Amino acid sequence: MLSIEKYQEEFIKYLEEYSKFKEPKGLYQPIDYILGLGGKRLRPVLTLLATDIFNGDYKEALNAALSVEVFHNFSLVHDDIMDDAPLRRGEKTVHEKWDVNTGILSGDAMLIMAYQLFENYDATTFQALAKLFSKTALEVCEGQQYDVDFETRNDVTIPEYLKMIEYKTAVLVGAAMKMGAIVAHASDKDQDSIYEFGKNLGIAFQLQDDYLDAFGDPKTFGKQVGGDIIENKKTYLFLKALEFSNDNDKVDLHQLFSSDPEDINTKIEVAKKFFISTGSADATKQAIQDYTNKAFTVLDALNILEDKKLLLKAFGDHLMNRIV
Ligand code: IPE
Ligand code: IPE
Ligand code: MG
Ligand code: MG
Ligand code: MG
Repeated sequence: MLSIEKYQEEFIKYLEEYSKFKEPKGLYQPIDYILGLGGKRLRPVLTLLATDIFNGDYKEALNAALSVEVFHNFSLVHDDIMDDAPLRRGEKTVHEKWDVNTGILSGDAMLIMAYQLFENYDATTFQALAKLFSKTALEVCEGQQYDVDFETRNDVTIPEYLKMIEYKTAVLVGAAMKMGAIVAHASDKDQDSIYEFGKNLGIAFQLQDDYLDAFGDPKTFGKQVGGDIIENKKTYLFLKALEFSNDNDKVDLHQLFSSDPEDINTKIEVAKKFFISTGSADATKQAIQDYTNKAFTVLDALNILEDKKLLLKAFGDHLMNRIV
């Protein structure tokens, strides 16, 4: 087993080798740009880690890890177009630096590149990886569509929200780990358990992402703080604020989250005040903790040594306290 930093380092080395310059520039430069902007490299690290946890060789999982990261970055390029986001990892988003058409086509190419990376595996592994990947990628699209649909709805429920984030975010975290287990030839039961672990961690991760979108520090967050509020995203923060409000405040909240005002700073300020005064900010922190604990419970069923479980727990705790 390596340390998290070491898996990250090994992954980045592999990525740099992969991102060799290709023509035409207009297609490949944005791909190198977004992949080179960094990010936490959470998903590929989880793939490598999962392979080692099931006694495989993490080096054999590098192509699967790269596939997951390329897919993730593809989804970000298109997500930033859909969310009208100006900033990603502290720099301009692809459609801001180039244009929307570039974001669409470079994103499409990345999705294909992600599939192509599975060609490095034998037929049985290829099939298992591709099958999981296709299912996951379609679910991500479904989650993204729900996310957009919810912007203009005022009757979104908490179960609907949870399903939406499970699809748009959590299934990819689960799949990243399951791919590691597939490469390591882990048993079906272990593959399913590690998927469940990753999925619950992924739900906690998206709840935290929503929390940071409102309460993150603009100096470190790397994305436009308040972006979800501007876009009327029906996040857990919003839904819990609504639940905890009296009838008058409910009307105000609904109005605020169906508006598109010139003065976005006031909108963000008012929304954040609601999130704090209603107790929804605290409820969100609690939910992050609860889903992280749920992930830890899944670990109990896993057929691996205790020190490996501790490593996964430390990783989960670390994610819960992140500021980026
Ligand atoms: C951002 O993912 C999109 C979400 C699912 C919340 P990350 O927060 O993992 O983004 P990077 O890759 O570290 O920038
Ligand atoms: C992103 O959700 C999910 C996917 C990219 C599939 P968000 O829209 O919350 O992600 P960020 O906040 O832009 O990174
Ligand atoms: Mg977004
Ligand atoms: Mg989005
Ligand atoms: Mg977000």
